[in-house]
Amino acid sequence: MAFPIVERHDLKAVLPSNFLHGYAIGTRSAAYQIEGATVKDGRGPCSWDDFLKDQPEKGDDACRSYDLWQEDVELLKQYGAKSYRFSISWSRIKPLGGKDDPINEKGMEYYNNLIDALIEAGVEPTVTLHHYDTPLALDEAYRGFASSDPAPLVADFLSYARLCFERFGDRVKRWLTINEPWIFCSLAPDGLVKNYTRKDFFRKLKDPYGASANIAPRVGHNCLLVHGHTAKLYKTTFKAQQKGQIGIALNYDWVEPLDESELAITAAKVAEERSLGWWALPIFKGIQTNSWDQYGEAFPKLTSKELELVKGSADFFSINHYGTMYATGKLFEPYTKTNFRDLDDVEKTHYKNGVAIGRRGENGHPHTVPWGFAKMLTHVWKTYAQPLDIPIYVYENGYPVEDESKFPIQDIVNDKYRQEFFDLYIGALCDVVKNEGAKIAGYHCWSLLDNLEWNFGYGPQFGLTYVDRKDGFKRIPKDSSKTVAAIWDHVVKK
Ligand code: NOJ
Repeated sequence: MAFPIVERHDLKAVLPSNFLHGYAIGTRSAAYQIEGATVKDGRGPCSWDDFLKDQPEKGDDACRSYDLWQEDVELLKQYGAKSYRFSISWSRIKPLGGKDDPINEKGMEYYNNLIDALIEAGVEPTVTLHHYDTPLALDEAYRGFASSDPAPLVADFLSYARLCFERFGDRVKRWLTINEPWIFCSLAPDGLVKNYTRKDFFRKLKDPYGASANIAPRVGHNCLLVHGHTAKLYKTTFKAQQKGQIGIALNYDWVEPLDESELAITAAKVAEERSLGWWALPIFKGIQTNSWDQYGEAFPKLTSKELELVKGSADFFSINHYGTMYATGKLFEPYTKTNFRDLDDVEKTHYKNGVAIGRRGENGHPHTVPWGFAKMLTHVWKTYAQPLDIPIYVYENGYPVEDESKFPIQDIVNDKYRQEFFDLYIGALCDVVKNEGAKIAGYHCWSLLDNLEWNFGYGPQFGLTYVDRKDGFKRIPKDSSKTVAAIWDHVVKK
């Protein structure tokens, strides 16, 4: 089989300057991964405080961004970012989470200050309302997003979202309701969480929909409903006056059929329909995937009224992307070792293409495969965005290095592999804009800082900035931040 080749571009040589018009380009973070201060100034506990309470590495300090946020804004300025996507911690501004529960004004003040400082720095804020961290009180009351009755969850979320739109919407012009429902399904709180171990998480992530389908179907379904209701609230009550946009942060790691067999081709299609189409089909096309039908009622379907609510609910297509896999064939069991093979097992030379790829991230993210990114963007453009004439925003893309923080500091800073990654991936994105005429309106590196990678602790690191956790959480820019700044400076219209 012929493997696509993406050459490493010298972007300055191959692209005219000012190539990308109107770009929201920048970096990303999420509250629990960077803020710390989990018991400060009235913040309430969230699901992740509970999940990780017995783990050696958790979010109690994270990157101390609750206290050091001004330094983060300085970094964004230094890196030439024009856009910053961060998330609000629901339990920081509503400690108990419920619709009738009190607001924590100290928490509101934190986000107000951050938003003001970003705008002052010329960095456009995009806000994610929910990045995996549900107030613990709601998990305890009705199992949060796993609630079998969506009504209390929707009511509580709407009240939280309304608060954000009312107080921040004069300055925040782009909102994302939920981060990565596909991944969130496998992180969601259920019985397993009580016996939580890193291994359990990994197993669930690889095969979240095995024969004994767990609560994931309900979580995925509730994400659709919460998103639909929140988008409706924004569009009917705030959008006209605030002139903003709302979407949902989906993720898709490209799945390439290993060969031309019908089995492999169908397996790749099923993988798309489950990990992306589950949400993208109803939201952007008003139809539902039937790829879960074999599980019967375990996977709730949207009623026609719910489908009506969800259809057309996103103003843009937001996508996170981390890697590419091959589909080898067996249906209905995606992401198990035997059915989806890592590129490494299959073909080293083609994807490497003479480029030294660097160390492999070992937290489940596959290798550097820029052609997979290009194929994914082309697919999303042609299937979902182009027919509606809406733009795509890449809201996450990055390169993990396992235990990078344990390397000598000069090796951490001189992160050649990450520089190559961004060169190749931003090059692939430019190819898609050039060759397909795709409207891609933003690109964001994950991540601004080396941060808490959820249950993997501070092992895998993705940051453009090293955070010295032993020395006052000092921020030290890595060389990749300079690479990215130089690319942006060249290709983005001033
Ligand atoms: C996606 C998630 O949104 C983010 O929280 C996570 O750290 C990155 N992927 C890397 O795994």
